[in-house]
Amino acid sequence: MSTLVVVGTQWGDEGKGKIIDVLTEKADYVVRFQGGNNAGHTIVINNKKYIFHLIPSGIFWPQTICVIGNGVVVDPEVLIQEIERLKKEGLKVDSKKLLISEKAHVIMPYHKALDLAREKKAKKDKIGTTCRGIGPCYEDKVARKGFRLIDLTYPELFKEKLKAILEEKNFILKYFNAETIKFEDIYEKYVKYGEYLKPYLTDVSLVLWKAKREDKKILFEGAQGTFLDIDHGTYPYVTSSNTLAGNACCGSGLGPLEIDMVLGVVKAYTTRVGEGPFPTELKNELGDRLRTGGFEFGSTTGRPRRCGWLDLVLVKTAIRLNSIKALALTKLDVLSGFENLKICIAYEYEGKIIDYLPSSLNEMAKLKPIYKDLPGWKRDIKNVKRFEDLPDETKTYIKTIEEYLEVPFYLISFGPERESCFILKNPFEN
Ligand code: IMP
Repeated sequence: MSTLVVVGTQWGDEGKGKIIDVLTEKADYVVRFQGGNNAGHTIVINNKKYIFHLIPSGIFWPQTICVIGNGVVVDPEVLIQEIERLKKEGLKVDSKKLLISEKAHVIMPYHKALDLAREKKAKKDKIGTTCRGIGPCYEDKVARKGFRLIDLTYPELFKEKLKAILEEKNFILKYFNAETIKFEDIYEKYVKYGEYLKPYLTDVSLVLWKAKREDKKILFEGAQGTFLDIDHGTYPYVTSSNTLAGNACCGSGLGPLEIDMVLGVVKAYTTRVGEGPFPTELKNELGDRLRTGGFEFGSTTGRPRRCGWLDLVLVKTAIRLNSIKALALTKLDVLSGFENLKICIAYEYEGKIIDYLPSSLNEMAKLKPIYKDLPGWKRDIKNVKRFEDLPDETKTYIKTIEEYLEVPFYLISFGPERESCFILKNPFEN
């Protein structure tokens, strides 16, 4: 087993950062393949909290090479700040440690301005994006009007294309009554970003292909979650990339037969940020309790996350969409102290019982979750040292989920620290 893709099975924020950090101990490469700095991975090491937006969280492991694939959209300003911040922490972030695809697209100032302007104008129909310019950047990529990182290293060609593009973008920004962008204000800045990043740029596909031939362990780090996928998520309340495991191939340049295993991360309850359907949402004090207990505030925007019971219909669908063969359960400790717990095992839709998520928003709005009730546990589980020492009710919760999903848990995480995690089976050791 040498290539593993880790994806979120819900709406993101499943605690993937922690799981990836734990698994990276055995990985030679950690690769991001989609999304951008809309993602935020929080890792706690020795009581210190680190938040990453672009750099794969593997940066903390001395043996691991971090890779940003072509499928990622890169805000160079944010990336450079992140590199500089890590260097200040004493970490080595040179061009041997961090590799960035030449083909990754650049988030330009007008992408951010457009994201913001659209959200502002949409009012009640807004998506609730992170306003980081992610959607507009992917739009330009697909429209073949984008800049790739390599383009920043050819100042003359970049100059001509930027002038032409700014004309169109400023026309649109005027429509939104937003401030237009001046060529002189950004050209030199982006050429400098290109110079700074040039040593890191490489053909990621080739690097990974060679690594795979040498049987190196490669971990693909998914951002966001299955139901934020542009095709299979709760459209239009989704992000602008394919978040599914299949995109690890397109977003890095490694072929599909090179992927050995997919692991899905499931949070012990459900959350989502921004707008969109959420059948098991708790708009009451139980939801507030999950939010406070799980510190459910966006690591990118700080927005409070909407919280609800675990929805296994979603997770089962995620298993199908991603070919998930193993699971990691996270934030189990947050459920400690709840008298009763509920997990959604089906929906009622217009009097019928269904076990899938319909495609239309209209239908999603009418879903009524059907719950299985389970007893809660009183005891705090943060300091439990062995799986056997977990309260019986916690074990029942885990077993019930596993039986419903028919996929085994390889990892159980019950606190933010690296140590608060049982690795029942390490997928890299198969
Ligand atoms: P965008 O990715 O900024 O375009 O935002 C689109 C939707 O995806 C919004 O509902 C965001 O809140 C959501 N989103 C984007 N990135 C993340 C993430 O890392 N975690 C959770 N939600 C996210």
